[in-house]
Amino acid sequence: MFPQIRMRRLRYGKLKEMVRENTLHVSDLIYPFFVDETAEQKTEVSSMPGVFRWPLSQAVDAAREAYDLGIPAVLIFGIPKKKDSEGSSSYGEKDVVQEAVRAIKAEFGKDLIVITDLCMCEYTDHGHCGIVDEKTHDVVNDLTLPILGKIAVSHAKAGADIVAPSGMMDGMIEAIRTALDENGFVNTPIMSYSSKYASVFYGPFRDAADSGFCFGDRSEYQMDPANGDEAILETELDVLEGADILMVKPGMPYLDIVYRIKQEFKMPLAIYQVSGEYAMIKAAAEKGWLDEKKSFYEACLSMKRAGADMIITYYAKELAKILNARQNKSK
Ligand code: PBG
Repeated sequence: MFPQIRMRRLRYGKLKEMVRENTLHVSDLIYPFFVDETAEQKTEVSSMPGVFRWPLSQAVDAAREAYDLGIPAVLIFGIPKKKDSEGSSSYGEKDVVQEAVRAIKAEFGKDLIVITDLCMCEYTDHGHCGIVDEKTHDVVNDLTLPILGKIAVSHAKAGADIVAPSGMMDGMIEAIRTALDENGFVNTPIMSYSSKYASVFYGPFRDAADSGFCFGDRSEYQMDPANGDEAILETELDVLEGADILMVKPGMPYLDIVYRIKQEFKMPLAIYQVSGEYAMIKAAAEKGWLDEKKSFYEACLSMKRAGADMIITYYAKELAKILNARQNKSK
């Protein structure tokens, strides 16, 4: 008790650094970016200043920017030329993600981990994450699973190191694991978007990935933001089906879920600081209301404190620059 105990004693100078519990490292970061088969040149996403859609011919350049900063992994999203009701340009050998992965792996080999977002929503003309029943507009879970398996195999064949299914179909991890194994990809890990909430914070992404939906929303397959316990069962099922890395998405509004999932499963855990989180910080910074760098730094540090091992963030490059500069200073 006071006055014997004074918390402020350790809050000075070097000592404060020595008692610091959590630290961000460049090796925690995953850089997500969009490869657009329809684009001729790099174009900025209007709702996400500083984030671009890269033409296929520049996918390697996008990856290089992360690689040069020491970021160990990229997460690739594809925007196809052609969309249809079955998302059929999601699994071809020469489709956008497959081509991008092949080019990036040819350039960087084992030195850069390539993760692919595995979902149908960017490839379907209705924008939903699966096969839709034309009459009821329901996303039909079990018809979607074999397609997800096919996409996974096509990504692995192109050289993807990790596939990251984000569609929230029941049984998708098992379907993908089985498809990968049957095709000889027994060592390709699955990073499951295991607790993915039906969140308003994905808004700007849908501009970026051109994946808005023409009817309904995703609340019938993504999780209810009101639920916490449910994330435990959702995640447990993914673990049992063979997920190697877990994920909570969005990030900052769901730190309680990150904490609980880490405590419960003690498995590698990623967190996704989503487009809306990025846009909020950007917009406030543009108005001069927040210090941008300090804001994303603190947001990401909070994610580590909550228990995340890896952070997927559109700020990855900016954050890496800060962390690299700090390390050079301390050398
Ligand atoms: C689905 C997917 C989405 C995001 C990542 N993967 C959109 C959605 O579920 O509607 C959102 C990412 C973000 O907001 O940054 N393929």
